[in-house]
Amino acid sequence: MADITVRKIRFTFEDPIDFDASEAERGEMLPALGLSMTMPYLEPYLIRTMKVALKAITDPPLAEDVRRFCQQEGHHYRNHALFNHQIRAQFDAATADGLRGIEAALEADYQRFSREKSLRFNLAYAEGFEAMTCAGALAAAEHGAFEGAGMPGGEIWAWHMAEEIEHRTVAFDVYQHLVGSYPYRILAGTWAQWHYVSYVRRFALCMGRGLGWKKIRTKSSPMRRSALRRYLHTWSPRYDPAKIEIPDGVQELLAKYSALAERAASVPPTLPERLA
Ligand SMILES: [Fe+2]
Ligand SMILES: [Fe+2]
Repeated sequence: MADITVRKIRFTFEDPIDFDASEAERGEMLPALGLSMTMPYLEPYLIRTMKVALKAITDPPLAEDVRRFCQQEGHHYRNHALFNHQIRAQFDAATADGLRGIEAALEADYQRFSREKSLRFNLAYAEGFEAMTCAGALAAAEHGAFEGAGMPGGEIWAWHMAEEIEHRTVAFDVYQHLVGSYPYRILAGTWAQWHYVSYVRRFALCMGRGLGWKKIRTKSSPMRRSALRRYLHTWSPRYDPAKIEIPDGVQELLAKYSALAERAASVPPTLPERLA
């Protein structure tokens, strides 16, 4: 069983987002805000998928990991929904409507996937997303990107990414337990990553237009190169997130957020209604 702690935290988003950014900062900021916009749709979809998977899982420690994964993701998207409210409010009405339209399209996609796609597909999507995010989170941790409060939204990023690293094995282990096919993991997982990233890009472009920013360029950096290297490693047939060495500082972050959190006293045997 993985070592996963459920931390109930609600962040407040009182500091206005400072859009007075350099060109280099724009390339970091808008994709991050785009990422946040996807969370209230993506993470409930992951939870729905895992709830279906739970009925087929025959390994009790893995089932317990899945319950904790769902609870962590539940707290993630609730905080991102609060942050997204602030993001929308800082744009003009036309841009906010544009964001709402992309949100509706993304939600429609995920509802359709839950309704019409196989569990095999939905599990490969979940693992494709988790593997890609974990690669980015590990690179960010390795390069100290969570130190300081440089990002709009502040600590939501350090908390969320540290927990993504903490539960990195769950979607992979469920996929291996119930599906297991390596080619399908790569095929469907890569499609999932393309689908997900295309929405992040749509959100970022919509916000960029609202701000009158003509260019949003992301520049190469040691952190980006590390993220790419780590991402490419997820394509290996030998990839196993349990074997990844965790960068310094992640455990300290998790301990910090454990102390902040109103920690769940015990994990209930079934998914609580509030996460449905
Ligand atoms: Fe998450
Ligand atoms: Fe996750």
